[in-house]
Amino acid sequence: MAVMALDFRSANRFAIAYEAGWMMHIASGRAVLAERELNGNQSIEARERALQIRLQAGGKVEDISEMTPRYREVLEQTMLIAADLEMSTLGFNYPAILNAPTLDAKISIMSAVQDELGHAQVTYRLLEDFGYDTEELLFRRDPKFFRTFYLVQHPVNDYVTAVISMLIGDRAGYTTTLDIEESCSYGPYSRSLRKVNFEEKFHVAYGEKWTEYFWNKGPKTRKRIQDAVDFYFPLGATWFGLPDHMKTRPDQLQYKVRAQSNDALRQRWLAQVVPFCERVGIKIPAHFDREKGQYVLDYEMPILLNEETGKWDFRTVTWEEQFAQWKKGGPIKTETFRRLQDEVWGDDLW
Ligand SMILES: [Fe+2]
Ligand SMILES: [Fe+2]
Repeated sequence: MAVMALDFRSANRFAIAYEAGWMMHIASGRAVLAERELNGNQSIEARERALQIRLQAGGKVEDISEMTPRYREVLEQTMLIAADLEMSTLGFNYPAILNAPTLDAKISIMSAVQDELGHAQVTYRLLEDFGYDTEELLFRRDPKFFRTFYLVQHPVNDYVTAVISMLIGDRAGYTTTLDIEESCSYGPYSRSLRKVNFEEKFHVAYGEKWTEYFWNKGPKTRKRIQDAVDFYFPLGATWFGLPDHMKTRPDQLQYKVRAQSNDALRQRWLAQVVPFCERVGIKIPAHFDREKGQYVLDYEMPILLNEETGKWDFRTVTWEEQFAQWKKGGPIKTETFRRLQDEVWGDDLW
């Protein structure tokens, strides 16, 4: 009986392996056909179909000639936003660099910002392959056309806030870029994020280390950590955008520019931030729901920040109200880039 069962399992395994192999064969066959269709003199729709099939079969894109206009548009927009987000770190961390309490702290924030500018540089460099000019994008683009998220549109005014910004904000950014590194169908972009993510991991670890230090140092620093988390946590939760059921353009997922949906990425972020805060003792408006088997927020999005008090109003508002706050942006939404463009650079700066 045991032998028969074993045989059955073996046969079953063989059947599964055979089927999987056959499916892969079909998929690769379809991919080859798709490739031919893509490279031939086909209509946009046919090229679009061929690319979709190829991507679904796990194919990668290595060159612009392999892209359809829509794929290219989605990819370019993704990289532009990513590069602008990295670039914004210089502006929002600037106050914390100026008033850092020790030379060590100052060098640490500057070093992290230097990493971020490197991340921006890598992505703007890739965009040059698509015809963009980095000099033009950075120094001659109207600051109102830079595209960033609400989280990075607030100044980081001191070292404790910088630490929490790394704990919450860098963790959010890292969650997104890790997904792109793991899954992006555009090979050059995916590979460029290996170094980026190595450094992001370090920023998050730095944030965790100093969060615990200040939390345990005394009641005053503990309060400052709690206040900064109170401010940053809801910003981190909205980093990943609209809930999945409200998304109108799932192109990034269709084209495998990234693999995980907004809600899945939010969940991945929560699964790291919530256990860390619970272990340290920091209060956060989220918990693990055993029945649902996932992390949930203790409030219902969307909520609004009172920019005058810096406190969140946890009453749920309409998405229109949320969009209005995002559209208006945080206090340094455009100032960050205006300053970048107006600053005296080069020899004169020193
Ligand atoms: Fe970065
Ligand atoms: Fe970072």
